[in-house]
Amino acid sequence: MAFELKNTVPWGRNLEEYSNMFNLTDSDLDCRIISFGDGPASFNSEMTENGKRVVSIDPIYEFSQKELQQKIEETKEMVLEQTKNNLENFVWTKIKNIQELEKIRISAMTKFLQDYEDGKMTGRYINHELPNKTDFEDLSFDLGLSSHFLILYSQLGLSFHISSITEMLRVAKEIRIFPILNLDAKKTDLLVNLIEYFETNYIVNIEKVDYEFQKNGNEMLIIKRK
Ligand SMILES: C[S@@+](CC[C@H](N)C(=O)[O-])C[C@H]1O[C@@H](n2cnc3c(N)ncnc32)[C@H](O)[C@@H]1O
Repeated sequence: MAFELKNTVPWGRNLEEYSNMFNLTDSDLDCRIISFGDGPASFNSEMTENGKRVVSIDPIYEFSQKELQQKIEETKEMVLEQTKNNLENFVWTKIKNIQELEKIRISAMTKFLQDYEDGKMTGRYINHELPNKTDFEDLSFDLGLSSHFLILYSQLGLSFHISSITEMLRVAKEIRIFPILNLDAKKTDLLVNLIEYFETNYIVNIEKVDYEFQKNGNEMLIIKRK
């Protein structure tokens, strides 16, 4: 059965998962990081706790903590149900079953919710929608990330992706996108077209990572300045 999520959904991962998805080294973690489509991930909250610097960008940050909590509740059943219906699309080694998946995700999203008001006040959670231009100066960040947003939601289309990645590359020296599969765990023409487009002016690589939940989803796309 195809994995059907009409729009992107608020669903959050944790720092350990981000570190594995993006091969984040100690020196990467010390960089100035901007993370797009961060939603209710606990990456920013855990990084801040560790004294690191992350700015998260997402249109869901227009909502209050209470509204987000409600949206997460609504999303939870739908995502878990879709995952249950597509068990064969996933690798159940690190995360053993649906119950464990729910536990890990809820723990990450609870951390996010607890940190949200403080992070919003201090400018760590910014309500903004790609591909619109952000308020940041060129190259304000060392690293730009997109976890489970760009490429995964391939239905957003090529021109959306080109404009969004162009904005990410304006504000960050290097960007990393994970995964490079769509919601049906397939590589699409979108990936091929993006590589072709950006490799004219940038260094583009696909790198293996130590994270695989979607079957064969253990690679990230890296684009950096020449
Ligand atoms: C599946 S969630 C991934 C959350 C987080 N990055 C993670 O991996 O745990 C996808 C996120 O993309 C965000 N998103 C959707 N459209 C966006 C846009 N145009 N610009 C920035 N973020 C967007 C959604 O609001 C949602 O929070």
